[in-house]
Amino acid sequence: MCGIVGYVGNKRCVDLLVEGLRKLEYRGYDSAGVAIIDGGTIAIRKSQGKIDRLAKLISEEPVSGHCGIGHTRWATHGRPSDVNAHPHRSGSVVVVHNGIVENHRTLKEKMQARGRKFTSETDTEVIAHLLDECVSDGLSLEMAVRRTVAQLQGSYAFLAVSETEPGTIAGARLNCPMAVGIGEAGETYFASDLPPMLAHTREVLFLEDGEIVVADASGSRLTDFSGTPHVRAPQHIDWSPVMAEKGGFRHFMLKEIHEQPRAILDTLAGRMLPESGEVFFETLPLSAEQLASLKKVIIIACGTSWHAALVGKFMIEGLVRIPVEVDLGSEYRYRDPVVEPGTLCIAISQSGETADTLAGMREAKARGAVTVSICNVVSSTIAREADGVVYTHAGPEIGVASTKAFTTQLVALYLLALNLAQARRALTPSQISDHLMELSELAPRIEGVLKHEAAIARIAKKYKDATDFLYLGRGISWPIALEGALKLKEISYIHAEGYAAGEMKHGPIALIDERMPVLVLCSQGESYEKTLSNLEEARTRGGRIIAVGTQGDSELLEKAEDTILLPPVGRMSRPILEVVPLQLLAYHMAVLKGTDVDQPRNLAKSVTVE
Ligand code: G6P
Repeated sequence: MCGIVGYVGNKRCVDLLVEGLRKLEYRGYDSAGVAIIDGGTIAIRKSQGKIDRLAKLISEEPVSGHCGIGHTRWATHGRPSDVNAHPHRSGSVVVVHNGIVENHRTLKEKMQARGRKFTSETDTEVIAHLLDECVSDGLSLEMAVRRTVAQLQGSYAFLAVSETEPGTIAGARLNCPMAVGIGEAGETYFASDLPPMLAHTREVLFLEDGEIVVADASGSRLTDFSGTPHVRAPQHIDWSPVMAEKGGFRHFMLKEIHEQPRAILDTLAGRMLPESGEVFFETLPLSAEQLASLKKVIIIACGTSWHAALVGKFMIEGLVRIPVEVDLGSEYRYRDPVVEPGTLCIAISQSGETADTLAGMREAKARGAVTVSICNVVSSTIAREADGVVYTHAGPEIGVASTKAFTTQLVALYLLALNLAQARRALTPSQISDHLMELSELAPRIEGVLKHEAAIARIAKKYKDATDFLYLGRGISWPIALEGALKLKEISYIHAEGYAAGEMKHGPIALIDERMPVLVLCSQGESYEKTLSNLEEARTRGGRIIAVGTQGDSELLEKAEDTILLPPVGRMSRPILEVVPLQLLAYHMAVLKGTDVDQPRNLAKSVTVE
């Protein structure tokens, strides 16, 4: 997730662009840059780091002009650096881009064969080169965009300017947001989200997937990818600036819960071919021999990432048939662990900076394990120190309680397990293909679950005065019970315990009475009957049952006081779906309690101390 801005009109635009970028810093902040057309030349100023560094650079080397584009980056392809910062230039064309060009390697190789030189590690640079090839052939910027989008696969919103057409900005969108603000006297503002616009205009067109926009001093026009004009009236936006920053959601956490379908698609992008049953990772430098000789996997993490690790155990053991050990960073580092030859250590961390996870991974590495990290923040310490890294492409997560980072960690683990299964021939391509099909259907299924939000909010209202909650799950859903309970504790401050359903009779059952809501993860699958018996045991002791189950389960509807029914999915995807209603339940309980949802007391987003 990155932030894009643009302006063309009668105002000098550099300050306007920089201010706009500041308002998009929540979308990414590892580098920033602007490109301004002044006369017939484009001046670029860009720098690694936050917007302040860009502003300083511009004050030292001023630029001016009435047409420009800008970008604040959240790295996906290529580490944060001055060179990888956007805008990217090729010949007379300069581009800013948000999204992932999935076929960038193929396009790059083809263009290199035609003699094109690439300077950055980004996927974006291929867009600049494709556009420049067209412009060099004498095409207009608009035609160049049309030809270019025909070759791009993946997700993108981009804006481009060209020295051949000073005063014009052209862009396109596919699966990434882009708003076009209509200003006074032909002015056009562009931004990934609304915050940069609202000080200037409230008349906004939201670019739709498959649309191209072209703007110059006389205004803007939209077409589809084949050039057919699209005419529609702008919407009037009456959001406050604070609302706009959160995409109209009341809290970052809620916005991030709703971003999960997109984040999952981005995490899958370019990594799988469901039809042929293949999984790829660009940044996983394990040799075929290393993969073939693996004997054991140890996963180290903290907090929510540790819950992802527990799910990962089921995925890797189930799909690869290698034993998996899961440990908390704070425990592993001090327990004098045994690391045998052929051990792979996977460190999972959203921030990539958690001190205990880092120390645990270092310990495993020092004892001879090969290390791979699953991180969200590119070039974070854990990502850098691991031998290989699988990035989750969740974009910046601002709410302290982790949501989209968790579901993308599960997706990354699922892919990694399939990748290991592929390398070790533990599964056939056709079996892998079935799993990949399942993964490719996850995002729309989560969209469907999010539609139950109003019903979940009603459940939250009913139970908001409970002081204790029990969350139960079995097998691969057990870590989701732990995660659901953790979410509730973290943000609503209600005491909640997650338990393996089969363990309930060894202790927690003593707590159950009519004051104790018991949330049971009871989807149909391998341990359905057993979990249903546990549910019954809790119910007969007076517990108030909230069940999360499978659509069409009439038995569950009868047995539970409240139910949330999800579409049927395979075992490995089930936890990814099941956690979503639990996130929403915790969120709505916290809102009803009036707590500080995004910054709960005593908690920090990244714990860099022991
Ligand atoms: C903190 C955060 C949690 C997070 C944990 C691990 O406790 O509040 O949300 O799960 O750290 O963070 P990591 O960045 O390593 O995933």
